[in-house]
Amino acid sequence: MWIPACAGMTPRGKRSLMRRRGVCVRVMAGESKKILVASTNPGKLNELRAMLGSDIEWLSFSDFDAIGEIEEDGATFAENARKKAVGYAEATGLWTIADDSGLVVEALGGAPGVKSARFSGAREEDRTLVDRKNMAKVLKLLEGVPDEKRTARFVCCLCLASPEKILIETKGTLEGFINDREVGENGFGYDPIFFVPHLNKTVAQLTHEEKNAISHRGNAIRKLKPLLDKLLRG
Ligand code: IMP
Repeated sequence: MWIPACAGMTPRGKRSLMRRRGVCVRVMAGESKKILVASTNPGKLNELRAMLGSDIEWLSFSDFDAIGEIEEDGATFAENARKKAVGYAEATGLWTIADDSGLVVEALGGAPGVKSARFSGAREEDRTLVDRKNMAKVLKLLEGVPDEKRTARFVCCLCLASPEKILIETKGTLEGFINDREVGENGFGYDPIFFVPHLNKTVAQLTHEEKNAISHRGNAIRKLKPLLDKLLRG
């Protein structure tokens, strides 16, 4: 999806180059019930489709011949979600939904926060290896911190934007504690060390459906749904 000629350009520069090159060839602008999901993760597309309804035509980056990458360099999850939604909406002419999510640990002053994906600095291609190194860093930093001070939350910010303006922003959270070791095999990222007290399990011990019912992402999507329905009706 990367356009090499754009390397080093600002996102705005990349977008205008994309427009000049006419890369948005398969989808025409301004068709409001088509919504682009600004993510390379097919799981997110499926999750949004399942939860927000099938009467919307959901598009992904794979519906485009080429699309530039917008850097997630905001100071908050909301800022990153907004930047991606607005940027890709301007670039494609489509309503676009983007998210940013991560782990916030209170005893670490909010870290890993917006740096969740690359907290350990590991650059490996293998996502599982990167996840393990990120978890190891969190566990190391929390060594000696008593249970009651290991409070944490997953946060997900969603933004839906048209090419003209921001339409909807929502935020979902999941509250819990950081375990003293990895437990469970499911999920991804920090799931094996994120303990959910009312279920007495880590997120990695939950099924996909159980996680979805309580997760930060699920909660952000559930908040967005009635607002989107209203917007589409109006
Ligand atoms: P993204 O916003 O989906 O790119 O997520 C950024 C990073 O936050 C991921 O790479 C994970 O490390 C972490 N993260 C986000 N959501 C979850 C989750 O549901 N479980 C575990 N880790 C997550």
